[in-house]
Amino acid sequence: MRVCVVGASGKLGQYMVQHALDRGYEVVGVCRPESVGKLDAFKGRITAIPGATDDRGVIKRAVAGCDGVLVVLVPRGVHGYASGTAQAVLDHAGPGARLVFSCGWQITRDGQDVYSLRLKMLVKIGGGLARLARVADLDDQVEACRRVFASDTRWTVVRGSDLEEGESQGLPVWSRHVGDPILKSNITRRVDFALFMVQALENDELVHEAPAIVGCQTPSALAHAAGE
Ligand SMILES: NC(=O)c1ccc[n+]([C@@H]2O[C@H](COP(=O)([O-])OP(=O)(O)OC[C@H]3O[C@@H](n4cnc5c(N)ncnc54)[C@H](OP(=O)(O)O)[C@@H]3O)[C@@H](O)[C@H]2O)c1
Repeated sequence: MRVCVVGASGKLGQYMVQHALDRGYEVVGVCRPESVGKLDAFKGRITAIPGATDDRGVIKRAVAGCDGVLVVLVPRGVHGYASGTAQAVLDHAGPGARLVFSCGWQITRDGQDVYSLRLKMLVKIGGGLARLARVADLDDQVEACRRVFASDTRWTVVRGSDLEEGESQGLPVWSRHVGDPILKSNITRRVDFALFMVQALENDELVHEAPAIVGCQTPSALAHAAGE
């Protein structure tokens, strides 16, 4: 399988590159030119394509011939970076390619998610301040996902909880709606977020799903498993 990682040099991206290589996939990684050095550990094992991830020409070249595309959606800046990235992938990935996008719990597909006051405040106040400072535009990640949900590609949108670093604990568990008891612990190891993204490539049950994930060893995941 040939896989493109869009946003390969970030923390999530590098973990996804490693998981993809561990599975024996051929990997193409797209990252900003100033970040190519962050992929030095993979030199000779992946094809690195420098460029902005919302550059349609760069994405067209990178996804050519790929069976799967893993996309880190980041709402950086206020110029539609996430939506531009998503659109470029939707337009240029081959027909039938598996597309897996990352985002946070704040994205909702059907409006049925139930959010904590903390998350609501974080999005409202943190998001507002970030937009004011022109650092990030959370609404652009919403727009990116809206376009993905509306597309007829073979997409999955993986919604990450709060993240932490640390050794892998295994494949996260998921639910369709934030607010479901299994997700209550709201923490996932970043390495396992990446594992879920990569495993989704070969899991057809996740096509047209927007799983909200949580670490499989967290109290809420364990309580759910014990109650089953
Ligand atoms: N952080 C969290 O707590 C959290 C929680 C839930 C979900 N998520 C989701 O997880 C994914 C990864 O996020 P992360 O926070 O863990 O960060 P990350 O993996 O380190 O990724 C950050 C990405 O943003 C890029 N970037 C940084 N500055 C940029 C700029 N000025 N312009 C354009 N791109 C820029 C980075 O590229 P370079 O390598 O070139 O800098 C990198 O690809 C995202 O989809 C996020 O929504 C994160």
